[in-house]
Formats: sequence, structure tokens, C-alpha cells
Amino acid sequence: MKIAIGSDHAGYKLKKEILPLLEERGLSFEDVGTEGPDSVDYPDFAKEVAEKVAAGTVDRGILICGTGIGMSISANKVEGIRCALVHDVFSAKATRQHNDSNILAMGERIIGPGLAQEITAAWLDTDYEGGRHALRVEKMMNIEMK
Ligand code: RB5
Repeated sequence: MKIAIGSDHAGYKLKKEILPLLEERGLSFEDVGTEGPDSVDYPDFAKEVAEKVAAGTVDRGILICGTGIGMSISANKVEGIRCALVHDVFSAKATRQHNDSNILAMGERIIGPGLAQEITAAWLDTDYEGGRHALRVEKMMNIEMK
């Protein structure tokens, strides 16, 4: 599985705590930035990661800002993206099983690194269940087909 990961300045420290987990798992990943604490605009990074996922250049994406909210709103504006804002392990599993989410968003100002790593691991390890969820996911994606 190939991952694209990005953050703004408010998610930079938490992103750095997630990278070793990807390395430990032997996952190939691309960090699109930001590279430090200087103020940047989260939509720039959300767009870059979301476009890579939508194009199939990577399989899934991870986005981190202060709350995860700006990242998730931005990513979900790219066609083909199902970005889930998650701050608990139950939701991390459920959004893979039910929504087939292809981007995970988290907020550094909301959760600590231990929980963020558990959430990331659960989200990476959980498969989409398909079945009764497939029509609902299809209906969701049809909303953006105007
Ligand atoms: C940056 O101050 C903050 O607005 C951003 O990281 C994010 O929380 C937006 O949703």
C-alpha cells in the first residue's frame, strides 16, 4: 500500500509521530509537507494529497492539521475522495468497513500521538466490507456527479 501524507504547521508535529509507524510497517509513503512550524495554508496540502489518491498515484492518504476539520473539508472537495475525520479507534475501523474512506484526517490539537498512532494503525489494517454498504457508498459518490 502506498500512502501520501501531509499536514499544515498545526499538524506538523503529529505528522512526524505518524511517519515511524508507516516505516515500521514497510509502507511506501510520500510526505508532501509542510516541512516545519512556519504558517501555511491547509487546503494546499489537502489538495495535493487528495489529488494523488483520486488519480491512483497512491492508495490512501493521511492529512493532519490543528483540528483535522479544514483538511477533511478541503480533501472532500476533490472528486473521488472520501475523507474521514477521526479521533477514536472505533470510528477509524467503522469508516473503513462502512464508508471505504480513502483519506484519514486527524487534529493535532485534539488528540495525542499515542491515540493518533492507534487510529492510524486501525484505519490502515481494516478492510472495506462492501455488501450492504456498497450501494450507500455509490450513492454518496453520485452526489458529486452533477
Ligand atoms: C491553523 O491555525 C488551523 O486553522 C488549521 O490547522 C486547522 O485546524 C483548520 O481546520
